[in-house]
Amino acid sequence: MLPIQISDVEFQIVQKLLFKEVGISLSDTKKKMVQSRLEKRLRFHNISNYSDYLKIVQISQAEKTEFLNELSTNETYFFREEKHFEFLESLAQKSTNMRVWSAAASMGAEAYSIAMVLDSNIPNKKWEVVGTDINTATLNICKQGLYQFSWSSKIPVKYQKKYCLRGSKAHKDKMLIDMGQGASMIFEENNLLETNLTLGQFDVIFLRNVLLYFTDETKIQVINNVLKNLKTGGFLIISLTEHFDDKEIKNIKYLHNAIYQKV
Ligand SMILES: C[S@@+](CC[C@H](N)C(=O)[O-])C[C@H]1O[C@@H](n2cnc3c(N)ncnc32)[C@H](O)[C@@H]1O
Repeated sequence: MLPIQISDVEFQIVQKLLFKEVGISLSDTKKKMVQSRLEKRLRFHNISNYSDYLKIVQISQAEKTEFLNELSTNETYFFREEKHFEFLESLAQKSTNMRVWSAAASMGAEAYSIAMVLDSNIPNKKWEVVGTDINTATLNICKQGLYQFSWSSKIPVKYQKKYCLRGSKAHKDKMLIDMGQGASMIFEENNLLETNLTLGQFDVIFLRNVLLYFTDETKIQVINNVLKNLKTGGFLIISLTEHFDDKEIKNIKYLHNAIYQKV
């Protein structure tokens, strides 16, 4: 089957739409990637050009969701950037209850890593982890908590023993995360471009490996949005590889290792 070619003009429409909807700034080098990720949607609709497909995206909320699901980059793994989990552990050891938000949760590896640390340090399940993303397909994976067994290699052994159930026989390449009865894990759709006060207030917000997709201006907008959900004295954690101009944000101070405190 011959690939359906996307024209420069069609690609620019994709760039504009993605930026408008979720703030993702797609460089011109991503044309081939866009073509290969969206082609299955054209075939699904039996459409032979991107212009017609993009018209559907603009009028159908369901197709817009599929479009965003295809074009968001979801790489994640358990206990990514372990310094942040050491920091979380030290906080949890001093706390009797905590609420933590994994903003841009992708497939949930970050949210479950957070939950394992909280559950092992805070008595009586007095913790809650909320994971949000724009990608409804990855949110379904979050809700199931079902992963390839190979992903467990990144999880410290003490947590593997406590929270990871390996499938048997035909399912032995799979692993289910089981946080136990009474654990409070919530996963829901949320666009970081918008404020969302219904999520409530958090002690810690993980906002990692997502800022890199945004322009400098959008980063500031997103950080100001999430800070509305952070308690004064609470912590905002971004990726060790990400940056934003913190002079643009009034009420935070930099601590260390890409960790900020709301003041
Ligand atoms: C690379 S993953 C990061 C996952 C996890 N935070 C980690 O560090 O492993 C980036 C995630 O950001 C999500 N994302 C991109 N733009 C977003 C937006 N405007 N609002 C919410 N999530 C967004 C994508 O759908 C994707 O799942």
